[in-house]
Amino acid sequence: MAILNILKEGDETLRKKCRPVEEITPRIIQLLDDMHDTLDKAQGVGLAAPQVGVLRRIVIVEIDGIKYEMINPEIIATKGKQEEIEACLSVPEKYGLVKRPAWVKVRATDRNGNVYEAEGNGLMARCFCHELDHLDGTLYIDKAIEMYDPDDIEDA
Ligand code: NI
Repeated sequence: MAILNILKEGDETLRKKCRPVEEITPRIIQLLDDMHDTLDKAQGVGLAAPQVGVLRRIVIVEIDGIKYEMINPEIIATKGKQEEIEACLSVPEKYGLVKRPAWVKVRATDRNGNVYEAEGNGLMARCFCHELDHLDGTLYIDKAIEMYDPDDIEDA
């Protein structure tokens, strides 16, 4: 168990395309455990492997007690649209308005090698999209319609 360093915007690693996981090794399991510790400490809702310097297609999501570990995730269906405010542990002290699908279905592999599907609305759907974007070097600030400082949010 370990708290990993979260890379910040400006680090080139965050802009690279991640490679698929071909084999779930003990190292990958360790990485997943460490990512959970790191996300809990940071009090975020999602974390992608490149944010901790590992260029592999792995994300974790933790929202309202629902936890997903997603290895080689892919969005397989979307419906509708939503426009909501997002933040990112790699872009501290910033917020931005981003357009995402209202509903998203993802296919991924878990740590035991089982392929499963997960779906969600609202924050869960946004989180799936946001975290999967990280795997292709995309940050939400690239897509934001408007950016805000914390002061703007408090006034809203
Ligand atoms: Ni992020």
